[in-house]
Amino acid sequence: MTKPLRVAVTGAAGQIGYATLFRLASGEIFGPQQPVILHLIELPQAQGALDGIHMELDDCAFPTLAGVEKFSSDNLELAFKDVDWVLCIGSIPRGKGMERSDLIRINGPIFTNTGKAINAAASRDVKVLVVGNPCNTNCLIAMSHAPDIPRANWFAMTRLDQNRAASQLAIKAQRPVAAVQNVAIWGNHSATQYPDFMNAKIDGQPASQVITDHEWLKSTFISTVQQRGAAVIAARGASSAASAANAALDTVKSLVNPTPAGTCISAAVLSDGSYGVEEGIISGFPLSSDGKNWKIIQGFQVDEFSRSKIDATINELKAERDTVKDLLP
Ligand code: NAI
Repeated sequence: MTKPLRVAVTGAAGQIGYATLFRLASGEIFGPQQPVILHLIELPQAQGALDGIHMELDDCAFPTLAGVEKFSSDNLELAFKDVDWVLCIGSIPRGKGMERSDLIRINGPIFTNTGKAINAAASRDVKVLVVGNPCNTNCLIAMSHAPDIPRANWFAMTRLDQNRAASQLAIKAQRPVAAVQNVAIWGNHSATQYPDFMNAKIDGQPASQVITDHEWLKSTFISTVQQRGAAVIAARGASSAASAANAALDTVKSLVNPTPAGTCISAAVLSDGSYGVEEGIISGFPLSSDGKNWKIIQGFQVDEFSRSKIDATINELKAERDTVKDLLP
């Protein structure tokens, strides 16, 4: 029998966690032959909710679900023991009147402990996807506290932005979303991110040839993607959850399967200096995977307009890094 994969989800009883677990258990993500053991991790006061989720997971009778283990966030070394994947979703969401810098200072320590516990207990080949915001900087903090885990195994989520951007391009071009490919998200998962229409393709043609309204591409398209999270909150009264869970699962699927030629995956990884992005920050890049290893795709066109957008979001990431300097060993 195939050895089960251990997949840990922090914030498992939250909105995104709940929308993630059943698809992880179903065989959709790692394949129908790959058993999965879920590690559900929550704050002590949310353990009761985990019991209910455990019942529902049992009630789905997924053939690929080989076990469910529940853990309190005050014993992370136990929670991360031998795990192969960690989806770091649990964190404090931004409240009314809270500045981004306040959020960074509140969530930073959570990711210090997360990194240390992953380093101490997880599989040496563990892959970590940080979803909890500010995800790029939280990923940097956790990674910095896990010196024994390869740098290539750390990701922050920009896939929701990629999916949002692809949908907006498809709607504008009046084409199915499957016709849109090669959409990269540069920089931070925040309102400064740069959704790259310049290298995007629709039916294999440059998006800017298919969509001739270049003013729309340079202004409305970018701001719609940048502000989409806020628009969902305003309309739904709660932040994106099903689409965020879907994006987290898309990220994992894209990393464990080969990337089709001529397309890219968007995720934030440790910069190696590619495209002039300062080394040592976690930035969104266009990536491709061979199913095991990934690389930053080189040769994307970066003109003066794109350069200024990329520089702006990288400057924000540098400022975030400076805000948490004392949390980086
Ligand atoms: P939520 O508030 O519904 O759930 C968060 C869960 O995390 C709660 O159940 C809470 O008990 C738990 N939690 C808090 N601190 C924890 C800790 N130290 N250890 C374990 N669990 C902990 O929030 P939701 O909607 O599920 O969002 C989760 C995070 O994802 C937020 O930070 C949000 O900003 C972020 N997010 C990121 C997106 C991205 O594209 N990167 C998109 C949407 C949301």
